Amino acid sequence: MILERPNFVRLEDFLDNDSHQRVLDFARNCREFEAAQVSRDETPTGKVEPSVWRAQLASVDEDILDIFNAKLRALLPHMRLEIGVPRFELGEIEVWLAAHKEGDFFSAHQDLTYDDLERRLTFTYYFEDPATRFDGGELRLYDHEISADDELSPVDTYQDVEPIDNSIAFFAPWAHHEVQPVRNRSEGEPGIRYSITGFFRDAEPTALAQLGLSPEQQNELAATYMPNFTPQGFELALLPASMYLRLREFVDQGIGSAGPEFEADEDIYLDGHPDFLALDPQLADDVIAELKPMHERWAGVPLEESAIYGVRVYRDGHRLLPHVDRIETHVISSVVHLMHDTDTPWHLRIVDVDGDSHDVALEEGEMVFYESARSVHSRPEPMVGRSYCSIFVHYRPVDWNMSWAMLVAQAEADGRDDLLPGGSVSTEP
Ligand SMILES: [Fe+2]
Ligand SMILES: [Fe+2]
Repeated sequence: MILERPNFVRLEDFLDNDSHQRVLDFARNCREFEAAQVSRDETPTGKVEPSVWRAQLASVDEDILDIFNAKLRALLPHMRLEIGVPRFELGEIEVWLAAHKEGDFFSAHQDLTYDDLERRLTFTYYFEDPATRFDGGELRLYDHEISADDELSPVDTYQDVEPIDNSIAFFAPWAHHEVQPVRNRSEGEPGIRYSITGFFRDAEPTALAQLGLSPEQQNELAATYMPNFTPQGFELALLPASMYLRLREFVDQGIGSAGPEFEADEDIYLDGHPDFLALDPQLADDVIAELKPMHERWAGVPLEESAIYGVRVYRDGHRLLPHVDRIETHVISSVVHLMHDTDTPWHLRIVDVDGDSHDVALEEGEMVFYESARSVHSRPEPMVGRSYCSIFVHYRPVDWNMSWAMLVAQAEADGRDDLLPGGSVSTEP
């Protein structure tokens, strides 16, 4: 486990007086502010969640962007080096105007993706209206631990960056950070912590977003063209008892503190998003390592670890849309079911290699191996109960090199226009 302090760079007196005034006038006169939305699944259609982020956001006019654009582009190589962001091809610079007022804050989060576009570097320009002074509002950048498989988790120590008028701070979007609550000063107008916050985006959207495939097309492409490793595509198994006991103890102790999951990357949830209880990093490392041989025996090929997620805690009414997991990495997987408090069995529906659907109800301590990147899976019935806790373990064959573009190329060669970008999959059975 490595402990790391994320670098940040702050530049004071960033804009000349005239530009600073134009930005301030723009913010003062802005009538487009809307309550900030949290996009847990990283789609643009987020939700207002005042317990997570309380602020007002607005988009920024072209002439304000022009004030920043050339300066930001010029600074990028330098900031990239100082902060330790690998070289990338710069696409758009995404920019927002944010206003945090008395009591507003943003709880700890990362800035990684939005609308499937990769954010590579974050900046925040602070400016202040002399009539609306405030206290608080510091940017808090947490130190983090890096586990053997490169997972970052924040620790209790941090650095605070003061929101000094006319200063800009650059930091890495993967650094966990938050905005401390803003407080009015006793004298003067109520305080407003204004910022122009933005992200340098990679010119390459993620491969999948670029292709523009519908979810139905993704499922059909994967089911049709992904290599197949096992006779059925899924199989039930028992978790080793000692591991189950260790995981179960962790869940029983932690379930009360399960909270919203912010870094989910899948837009697959219906009627609510599961809560999350982060596995202890050592436990996570042990589980993915110890379960690997079982997955290799099942799949019949040597595997590499891709990811372990969880604990996800589904709640009453939750459903899961039919989907396949990430074909680049989540190839041979399992749902490891740890605990449920439900009134009726909650079925996982898996489509087998022949296209037939199977409804599987997992017992506590049971797991289901599945070829999660090709076996379309869902939970079509709403969960009835209070909690349903599982973890997700993902591997890929050694030297795996699969992409959506490769699947599309195969569909093209087969003349399957319905599976090409812009086509549509028939919903007839
Ligand atoms: Fe942020
Ligand atoms: Fe999945």
